Amino acid sequence: MTVHFIGAGPGAPDLLTLRGRDLIAACPVCLYAGSLVPEEVLTHCPENARVINTAPLALDDIIGEVRRAHAEGKDVARLHSGDLSVWSAMGEQLRRLRELTIPYTITPGVPSFAAAAASLGNELTLPGVAQSVVLTRTPGRASAMPVDETLANFARTGATLAIHLSIHNLAQVVADLMPFYGQDCPVAVVWRASWPDERVVRGCLADIESAVDDGMNRTALILVGPALASADFQDSRLYSFDYDRRFRPQSAASPFADTSGEDA
Ligand SMILES: C[S@@+](CC[C@H](N)C(=O)[O-])C[C@H]1O[C@@H](n2cnc3c(N)ncnc32)[C@H](O)[C@@H]1O
Repeated sequence: MTVHFIGAGPGAPDLLTLRGRDLIAACPVCLYAGSLVPEEVLTHCPENARVINTAPLALDDIIGEVRRAHAEGKDVARLHSGDLSVWSAMGEQLRRLRELTIPYTITPGVPSFAAAAASLGNELTLPGVAQSVVLTRTPGRASAMPVDETLANFARTGATLAIHLSIHNLAQVVADLMPFYGQDCPVAVVWRASWPDERVVRGCLADIESAVDDGMNRTALILVGPALASADFQDSRLYSFDYDRRFRPQSAASPFADTSGEDA
């Protein structure tokens, strides 16, 4: 018996990996985080599967369901939204499973920041503008932030920020970032990226608050940084016509000339 943790993607049911779909179809038990995992993903469950929404459950209850499946010898598909590596509460479940010596696998999913970038039609790392993306959040009722993980500290780098779980804190986000990025810095809010009712609002730090309405609550990402609007960036060197590289040596004297296809 194995518990398969599966990233269910940002919302669109077809933004699920083939591996994830096949595992869901093979598991007689499915535990899903119902607040964000789309119902359509559950259509891959086998007929007669035991399907449980864990949104109203406590950790002990969830582990109780896993233990029950374990006792019955039934594999479990454990679904969380987006990818499992960020804000999935997978870590505490894995710790319990390790204590119980219950085997598990992890299948990644499409994270919401990637879905939001796709909706915006933006690359978040542009040469000479931004080469880092910070996935972060602001403090919540249940989650304090480590002391140095402030928006101000991240903003000092000028990186592109993908701020999760914070749309209700938009005014504070703007106030914290303004001194570093300036009022003209581009901002985008993507609400329910990849869902049929997705909404995108673009603006700058000075006007984004007035552009976002109350309907864009909970499932929204705030993206901030110059890369969001810049048309003024360098082409990457990788595809430059004269860039000497392993897959396109520029001359017989190139160090890559005899090693094409091999690691240099
Ligand atoms: C509990 S976290 C889950 C993050 C998820 N594991 C991921 O990989 O994106 C929930 C937050 O992720 C963001 N989020 C999740 N799905 C989203 C979507 N489809 N569109 C915009 N933001 C989303 C929102 O900031 C939301 O408050």
